Amino acid sequence: MPGQIMNCDMEKNIRPITDPSRPKVYIETYGCQMNVNDSEVILSILQDAGYALTENIDEASLILANTCSIRDNAEQRIWGRIEQFRLQKRRREGVMIGIVGCMAERLKEKLLDSHVVDLVAGPDSYRTLPDLIKKITPDSPQINVLLSHEETYADISPVRMDRNGVSAFISIMRGCNNVCSYCVVPYTRGAERSRDPYTIVREARELFDNGYKEVCLLGQNVDSYYWKDPDSADRNVNFAGLLEMVAKISPGLRIRFSTSHPKDISDEVIYTMAMYDNICKHIHLPVQSGSNAMLEKMRRKYTREWYLERVAKIRSVIPGCGLTTDVIAGFCGETEQDHRDTLSFMEEVCFDGAFMFQYSERPGTLAARKYPDDIPDEVKTARLNEIIALQGRMSLKSNQKEIGNRHVVLIEGVSKKNQDELFGRASNNKVCVFPSGGHRIGEYVTVEVTSCTSATLISKLV
Ligand code: 5AD
Ligand code: SF4
Repeated sequence: MPGQIMNCDMEKNIRPITDPSRPKVYIETYGCQMNVNDSEVILSILQDAGYALTENIDEASLILANTCSIRDNAEQRIWGRIEQFRLQKRRREGVMIGIVGCMAERLKEKLLDSHVVDLVAGPDSYRTLPDLIKKITPDSPQINVLLSHEETYADISPVRMDRNGVSAFISIMRGCNNVCSYCVVPYTRGAERSRDPYTIVREARELFDNGYKEVCLLGQNVDSYYWKDPDSADRNVNFAGLLEMVAKISPGLRIRFSTSHPKDISDEVIYTMAMYDNICKHIHLPVQSGSNAMLEKMRRKYTREWYLERVAKIRSVIPGCGLTTDVIAGFCGETEQDHRDTLSFMEEVCFDGAFMFQYSERPGTLAARKYPDDIPDEVKTARLNEIIALQGRMSLKSNQKEIGNRHVVLIEGVSKKNQDELFGRASNNKVCVFPSGGHRIGEYVTVEVTSCTSATLISKLV
């Protein structure tokens, strides 16, 4: 029967339990949304093993950092934290320090050289955390960095650590098979595998039943999600099929997803988005570069022209669809012309937002092995700054077009700048700020945009 799940623990409390008698774990999360969700899986496993979460590091007997390796500066930050954890160990005997996630997978035993770390666990080893922790002694730190071809934590109900109880992440797959030449993720998170769709739907439904109004489906490349049903090929599910299954849970549950890949995003996905009001009209579609020479070297497997065609398709089927991207400045051998191509590309598409980075060589990647990291730091920084400035202008331009438009917004919180205002996102992912008018977090409201900055749509209730 579809939907049947073996050994399912989904009946559990999805919020952290508070029990003063339990030993305490403190979890710090770095990096992407996937890591945020992994920390929730880790907490679920540790709660079952008798731990309770604390937000006060000074009362934790176990301190975990869930880490990121995507750029060197992310790792440098963790090394700095490890030095601060050393002080915790000095002050409080018996405190255990664990480094988990991508940096654990990449550096393995090297993390033990610090003589601070008691536990090193990679992204596929979280089920073994309770056993590893039991075995820790001052002289025997524990390590498990085995990657798996099957692990999706499908049966584990994450314990939600978000503050607002409105929006939650659901991992639909793990790993990545793309091997873009600059990227360390395929090495730290292993091969791609898709999670049983019925466990995904069940998790989303449970969130909705607990008051959540939005789920964000996560994968390194959601467009290559593919579930092969063990019993019948007729029941195989691709990403469009999964979106539809989750969208049907309730019109009151919004669906977002990230990250899409320009080479894989299909017409079927675009039409499915258009078909369901509750699938948010926003696509995060990392381009990385506007130069075909760079895209080729990055092994992205699409061209500038291909990407532009995908954008045209998206905009013709879903007018007003929010489109955001990632851009890398100063990749190996990037010429001034390549950089200009990125700028002209960004101008042509006019993205609603972008995450922009300067290239950081990652040991072991194809680029590190094959291409010299030959763009001087000051050139990378200057190019990045130019890209950021251009995106600021594009974001403003895109937001100005919204003035007078109406949006249904899901309220996520109180505005930081003004206690009497609320904020939330429109379907296209733009942040709207508006007077509270007695409304509450978790409600849907309709607003009209009255003015804007490059980051926010200033709105009024209608
Ligand atoms: N250097 C800089 N940025 C990188 N990204 C991935 N690897 C690197 C790297 N080595 C960026 C890409 C990706 C985002 C998650 O991080 O833009 O889409
Ligand atoms: Fe890295 Fe490319 Fe996979 Fe994204 S798709 S995680 S950039 S290898």
